[in-house]
Amino acid sequence: MIDTNVDRRHDNSDKWAVTKDDDQLLPMTIADMDIATPQFIREAMQRVLNKKVLGYTTPSTGFYNAIIRWQKTHHDVSLKRDQLIIVPSIAVGLSFVIRNLTQKNDGIIVMSPYYPPYRQLVVDNQRQFVEFPLVQREGQYVIDFNRLDAVMADSQNKAIIVCNPHNPGGCVWTTTELQRLQDIANAHHVLVLADEIHDDVAFSDNLPVSMLSDLMGSEAASQTVLMKSATKAFNLAGVKCAFLAVKNPALLATLKHAAAAEAIEEVNTLGVVATQTAYEQGAQWLTEVNAYLEENRNLAYEYLRENIPMIRPMYPEGTYLMWLDFMAYDLSDDELDEKLRSLGHICLNRGIDYGQTGSGFMRLNFAVDRDVLKDALQRLKAFDTAVRKK
Ligand SMILES: Cc1ncc(COP(=O)(O)O)c(C=O)c1O
Repeated sequence: MIDTNVDRRHDNSDKWAVTKDDDQLLPMTIADMDIATPQFIREAMQRVLNKKVLGYTTPSTGFYNAIIRWQKTHHDVSLKRDQLIIVPSIAVGLSFVIRNLTQKNDGIIVMSPYYPPYRQLVVDNQRQFVEFPLVQREGQYVIDFNRLDAVMADSQNKAIIVCNPHNPGGCVWTTTELQRLQDIANAHHVLVLADEIHDDVAFSDNLPVSMLSDLMGSEAASQTVLMKSATKAFNLAGVKCAFLAVKNPALLATLKHAAAAEAIEEVNTLGVVATQTAYEQGAQWLTEVNAYLEENRNLAYEYLRENIPMIRPMYPEGTYLMWLDFMAYDLSDDELDEKLRSLGHICLNRGIDYGQTGSGFMRLNFAVDRDVLKDALQRLKAFDTAVRKK
């Protein structure tokens, strides 16, 4: 059922665009998959095309029910239809929430390293970007809760973005960590913007808990806006369909009003069909894909640890992203990027783009055919051998 036989070189893929200048380069970058979007989703979209008209669409009850059922079954999140707001993407949704639930100059706390567009979405909306560095313990990121408490106690800071699983670190925050974070946020009246776009890519040793999960208790819901889509797990980033979920009636009313004012819920016909189909029919496919990704993760992690000890991988508890520490090579960020390309013929995402804490790191996307992953690991080995000879 998993189809890794895809050639994205000649379409408009962001990831593969680098090969137009250098066709020897292997990109292991942007967070989508070189795995075919499932056939049953493409067929559902085709059925819409076969009807020959792509006019205005209103999402059906079935669409909302698919989201509600998925979130309940897979994430223990109980939602009602009127608690959902449909948006084109998480980026658009996050910008919309920042603009409508915070004021100019408010501080938005962002754990660093961070998904790079967060900075732009905060700063270009004239809010303060309050970088909160994660701390490394035994090679994995942890949250320094004493510092977080101090940062949240600053009355200028009104919201925190919580990315779970974390991009780029691959961390799945534990229930205890999330509850602690929630308690501190509630105590200081800080809004929690929960970016859970990666939470369906889950491995057998670590299941992400949603900030809106019933497990988190009723308190959890009071200050949280959940942001989610089917796009990461089902490889649908181009269909532009995501949703916000809000339980607090006052926050919900503000956002519903703003959604009407901005006409933000105008939906993409094919995005709605793809999302509904993914959630209605995708559980089995996703189980298989996650098992495949888990094997890829294990293979890459073990290979690097055994064969290239100077590259220190963080263990991805979730996501298909591996965060690699290259500091042992003592190269600048520019040199590292250049040498990976020229000596290894491989392109990774530059860690420095994820904030200052990302300096010396690179991010590798392992959602690819296993042979391509093995090729990528050989290229990292070639880089390692060549750079150490010099
Ligand atoms: C953590 C995180 N949030 C949001 C996004 C972007 O989502 P969207 O394409 O829906 O804006 C990504 C994409 O890589 C991501 O990794």
